[in-house]
Amino acid sequence: MIKIIILAGGMGSRMNSLKPKVLHKIYDKTMIEILLDKSNKITTDVNVIVGYKHEEVEEAIKHYSNVETILQIEQLGTGHAIIQAYDLIKDEEIVVIINSDTPMIKEETIKKSIEVIEKNQYEGVVVTSIFEDKTLPYGRIIKDSNNNLLEIVEDKECNVEQLKIEEVNVGLYCFRGKSLKKALKEIENNNTKKEIYLTDVVYYMNKNNKLVKANFNEDYKQFQGINTKEELNLVTSYYLEENRKKFIKENINFIDIKNTYIGIDVKIEEDVTIYPNTHLRNKTIIKKGCIIKENSTIINSVINQFSVVEQSKIEESNIKENCIIGPFANIRAITNIENNVKIGSFVEIKNSNIDSNTKIGHLAYMGDSKVGKNVNIGAGVVTANMNTKYEKNNSVIEDGAFIGSNSILIAPISVGKKSIVAASSTISKDVEDKKLVITRANLEIKNNDII
Ligand code: UD1
Ligand code: CA
Repeated sequence: MIKIIILAGGMGSRMNSLKPKVLHKIYDKTMIEILLDKSNKITTDVNVIVGYKHEEVEEAIKHYSNVETILQIEQLGTGHAIIQAYDLIKDEEIVVIINSDTPMIKEETIKKSIEVIEKNQYEGVVVTSIFEDKTLPYGRIIKDSNNNLLEIVEDKECNVEQLKIEEVNVGLYCFRGKSLKKALKEIENNNTKKEIYLTDVVYYMNKNNKLVKANFNEDYKQFQGINTKEELNLVTSYYLEENRKKFIKENINFIDIKNTYIGIDVKIEEDVTIYPNTHLRNKTIIKKGCIIKENSTIINSVINQFSVVEQSKIEESNIKENCIIGPFANIRAITNIENNVKIGSFVEIKNSNIDSNTKIGHLAYMGDSKVGKNVNIGAGVVTANMNTKYEKNNSVIEDGAFIGSNSILIAPISVGKKSIVAASSTISKDVEDKKLVITRANLEIKNNDII
């Protein structure tokens, strides 16, 4: 049995931010969510120690129904954090502890460390590495001649000799439940920070004649801790780089991949072309044959086969096949656009369904609307969807309707099948099928007596 405990109680004072540290985003996803997704692939028994602004952290992770939170009311150190979970730890299980501020730890690294403890007679395994920057204030690894881990000495507690040790603790541990619980009873805050350090567990396990091993991993970049904004930036660059690597060998044409920004959960199918300065975030899927032109931002949306998006923003929406979106369209949540639709420049669509073969070519706003098939929406058409009580109302435009340029549809409203709204009309009454409606003032042509 594997239990994962993620330490996320700390305030992260070095971030100089009002937000709890784990809620900072690495590009498109919070640190804690990145780590929870990896943890959930390993076990269903996932626990998070929360403390500083715990309500905010709890709210942000409540969609993980299997994840338990454990409250650490006062943040008295990493060891103190784990003591809060003492009663949940079973003697016979393996407890994996991960610092929440190292979210780029690879899933395979966690799995490997579990394998090392499972296959050997160790009571603990601590993952270690050597960073390029040897001055980082990490816990130093003290080993005996048999490569057994004797002690982790925190940077602040190190003597001059210990400070020279290059191998450090990365913040990923596996312990057998029974030995961990015994050591948790023994650790104290006998140090400069007056904190209860989790790392001291190693010293006490040794005292109890329990074997602890260092599991060295040379791929140090995955272990970069995030304590400051500078480190957050560093890790964000690493995250983007790692995500690009996933796609570079696929059959995708990136015009300039280093200037393309892709989140960890994004999926891109074959034969897609992506131009630079494109942002693809969260659970976005770009299906086969699509072309995503420069400066597009697509968030949590699906773009189906052979659609083209140019310089546009699409959020929480579904674009079906062979559509043309943009340039400069703003497709907001929650919109569904069916096959062969053309959405042109400066068109904003929100919470709408646009059926197939419809054209909304220029400068329009469609909010809370249901637009049928083969509809033509002229330039400057606006659905006036909000009344003076700030309530939103729906507009229904049925198949084959033609809405002339610069018309205003005052919602709630419906325009029937194959009806025509003449350009520049303001429509405040429902229009039945096959009607022509016009509210335009009469044109007068007079003599010019002025100039
Ligand atoms: C910790 C390790 C250090 C290691 C480094 C790797 C300890 C004592 N030190 O140092 O050996 O090299 O990580 O990145 O563990 N937290 C709580 N409750 C608390 C205090 C902290 O939940 O009372 C959480 C924090 O939210 C954080 C994690 O524990 O995610 C680590 O705490 P942090 O203060 O960042 O430890 P480091 O000084 O980085
Ligand atoms: Ca840290």
